[in-house]
Amino acid sequence: MVVLGIETSCDETAAAVVEETGDIPRPWRVKSNIVASQIEVHRKWGGVVPELSARQHVRDICDVVERALADAGVETYDAIAVTQGPGLMGSLLVGLSFAKALAWARSVPLIPVHHLAGHIESLVLGAGEMPLPAIVLVVSGGHTNLYRIEHAGVYELLGRTRDDAAGEAFDKVAKLLGLGYPGGPAIDLVAAHGDDRAVPLPKTRLTHADRNAPELPGHRDFSFSGLKTSVLRHVTSRREERGLAAGEPLPRQHISDIAASFQRVVVETLLDRLFDAAQSYGAQSVGIAGGVSANSRLRTDATARGVSRGLPVFIPTLGLSTDNAAMIAAAGLRRYRAGIVSALDVDADA
Ligand code: KG4
Ligand code: ZN
Repeated sequence: MVVLGIETSCDETAAAVVEETGDIPRPWRVKSNIVASQIEVHRKWGGVVPELSARQHVRDICDVVERALADAGVETYDAIAVTQGPGLMGSLLVGLSFAKALAWARSVPLIPVHHLAGHIESLVLGAGEMPLPAIVLVVSGGHTNLYRIEHAGVYELLGRTRDDAAGEAFDKVAKLLGLGYPGGPAIDLVAAHGDDRAVPLPKTRLTHADRNAPELPGHRDFSFSGLKTSVLRHVTSRREERGLAAGEPLPRQHISDIAASFQRVVVETLLDRLFDAAQSYGAQSVGIAGGVSANSRLRTDATARGVSRGLPVFIPTLGLSTDNAAMIAAAGLRRYRAGIVSALDVDADA
């Protein structure tokens, strides 16, 4: 079975062809994976502008889908998987409408996919089926969600952010350090030259019974807005100390130190929660997916913790960690095999 995947939930127009091999533990094979990034469209605005994103998807989608098919060397496919949500409504509608039209014209089934299911299945696409039960952290620009997976394709939410997503925190901190957009890769880069203990930043501890009553709903939630505010306070006071005028940057080394310290705290917070949940639930493996899983410190530290605990750690290859359509096709195959297809009047769900 060959599936065409389409993803337009945010600022990448993506199409991919994935083939079901039926092999264990690698049930799917990527035949092509095309991503047209809109970074240049949004850069001067310092973030994604929804209307511009939707319009750019309209410009790019035909070409991206054609390239995905050509790259894979296929003209036909057996189903179309498309991101139904969450994401920007105007952007989702471009991919969904395009997918509906193709499904109708080609008389193939349409499989609507949750974007985060796509991120989770990117782990399987990269490294094969995860030993279950597994605990998976999805860290992207819009989400910080912790899941337990006992049966493949069924994702039980254990915790999520109460305010900023991890990627959003990276983006906002990068902005206030003057590192531009997109912020995650920029912080990753400059943090490599910084001292990660130079700036004392707090790890957010959610109050109430947190550790004492692990059965309480929300006790595995995350919060990153306090950390962001601490960085802001630190930057403001350092600027005042040095009498910097608006637009004048802090010294490079100082920016690197702040970035490294911020990154260390985010990574420790994420990994503490992930491995704590893994222990509580007797997980056989853990995974980290979503754009932030491209972070080099997160990848290194996660792998090291996995080794020290004897737990396999699944992290997608770089091309599969940020938004792409191969993961949507994979999640679509999972759903299709569970008997889920949809009528052509399905709505996008932002
Ligand atoms: O999954 P994704 O591509 O899109 C969403 O679904 O949101 O994630 C994008 C997020 C952005 O916030 C971006 O700054 C972050 O992933 N990101 C990173 C890195 N690369 C991308 N964050 C930290 N370090 C990175 N290397
Ligand atoms: Zn994403």
